[in-house]
Amino acid sequence: MSKVFDLIEKEQQRQNNTIELIASENFVSDNVRRAVGSCLTNKYAEGYPTTRLSGHKGRYYGGCTVVDELEEYCCDLWRQVFKTDYHVNVQPHSGSSANLAAYMAVLTPGDTILSMSLNDGGHLTHGSPVNISGKLFHIESYSLDASGRIDYEDIANKVRASKPQMVLAGASAYSRIIDFRKIRAILDEAMAQDETYKPYFMVDMAHIAGLIAAGEHPTPFGLADIVTTTTHKTLRGTRGGMIFCRKELAGKIDSAIFPCCQGGPLEHVIAGKAVTAEEALTPEYQEYIRQVVRNSKAMCAQFIEMGYDVVTGGTDNHLFVIDLSKTHPHLTGKMVQNDLDRHDITANKNCVPFEKRSPVETSGVRIGTAAMTTKGYKEADFIAVAKRIDEIIRGIQA
Ligand SMILES: Cc1ncc(COP(=O)(O)O)c(C=O)c1O
Repeated sequence: MSKVFDLIEKEQQRQNNTIELIASENFVSDNVRRAVGSCLTNKYAEGYPTTRLSGHKGRYYGGCTVVDELEEYCCDLWRQVFKTDYHVNVQPHSGSSANLAAYMAVLTPGDTILSMSLNDGGHLTHGSPVNISGKLFHIESYSLDASGRIDYEDIANKVRASKPQMVLAGASAYSRIIDFRKIRAILDEAMAQDETYKPYFMVDMAHIAGLIAAGEHPTPFGLADIVTTTTHKTLRGTRGGMIFCRKELAGKIDSAIFPCCQGGPLEHVIAGKAVTAEEALTPEYQEYIRQVVRNSKAMCAQFIEMGYDVVTGGTDNHLFVIDLSKTHPHLTGKMVQNDLDRHDITANKNCVPFEKRSPVETSGVRIGTAAMTTKGYKEADFIAVAKRIDEIIRGIQA
C-alpha cells in the first residue's frame, strides 16, 4: 500500500479518537465522500452550462452534457436550501476564492471595503494586510462595543464619513446574531442622502450558513447584493465555496470566477456540493442545526459558570470565544491549544477583541459544536468536555 493510504488511515484514527471543537470543521456523510471521490474528477469543464442565464453560456471542452446537468441541479438545490431566487455560482474552489471573485466582480483596486478586522473576529480575506484583499483594496474596519458586539452606530458613522464602495458583514469568530437588516437600513439611508452613492452590501455567511439554512439565524437574502459562503462548516459538506448574488450581478460574478480568478471547475466537488444541499433540505439536518445551537449555549454557560470570560458574555450560534486575558493573564491561546492537543481535544487559538498579543500567540480560544454534534454529542456531553477543558487549563497553571 502506498504511504498516502497509511497516512489517510492515521488521520482517520486521529479523527476517530479526538474531540473536535474547531468551529469551522465538520464530518461529511459517506455520500458526500462518494461524490467527491467519483469519476467526475476526470472531467475538464471550463465555462458554464449552456442553459446559464448570466450571459456566460457554454464550455470550452466537449463531453459536458452530464456536468452541465449536474451543475444546474446543484444551483437549483442551493436556491431551495436558502429559499432564494438569487443567481448562484457553485464553482468557487474555496471561501477565499469566492470572496476574491466577489470583490473583483464589483470593485476596482483601490476602492474602500468596510469590514470587521481579523482581530475582532473577521476573516483574513476581509482585508487583512497579508491577504490579497488588503493588498488590492483600501480597508476600513468597524468596531466592536465594550461587550464585544458589532457597533452598528460605528458602521453608520464610517459609511457617512468614508463612503465605502462595499460594506462587508460576516465573521469567523463572532458568536452573536448579525443584524443584516440594520446594515441594509444604514446603506439605504446613506444612498437616500446622496443619490450618486451606490455601495454594495456583501455578506460572507461561511460560518453561519447552516444556521441560516435551518432558520436559526436571520437570512441575508433579499438584503445583501452578494452572499458568499463555504460549504464545509455548519453546512457539513465538501470543502468548497459558493457565491449568490442579485440577478443583475450574475454576469459580473460569473466572469469574476471564470476566467478572472479560476480555471476549470472541480466537478467532483460540485457533485459533493449537490449532495450537501440534498442533505441540508432534510428535516434531520434542520434538527441537527438546532442541536448544534443548543449544545453551544449549554457548553458556553458551563464555562461561564466555572468563571471563564466569554466574549459578549454568551452565544447565539455554533461557537464562542473564551477570553483568557483577564482570568488567566499568564496563559496564551497557543499554550491552551497545544495542551488540549496533548489531551486529544482539538480547538484553535483565537484573537479576542482589543487583543494585545500577536495572532500567533493570542489571548483566546475559539470553541465550536458543529463537528461533535454530528458525532451525536448532546448538551450533557459538551458540559462534560467543558469540565475536562477546565481541568486541563488548571493543569497548565499549576
Ligand atoms: C468567514 C469566512 N470566510 C471565508 C473563509 C475562507 O474559506 P476557505 O478556507 O475555504 O478559503 C473562512 C474560513 O475559515 C471564513 O471563516
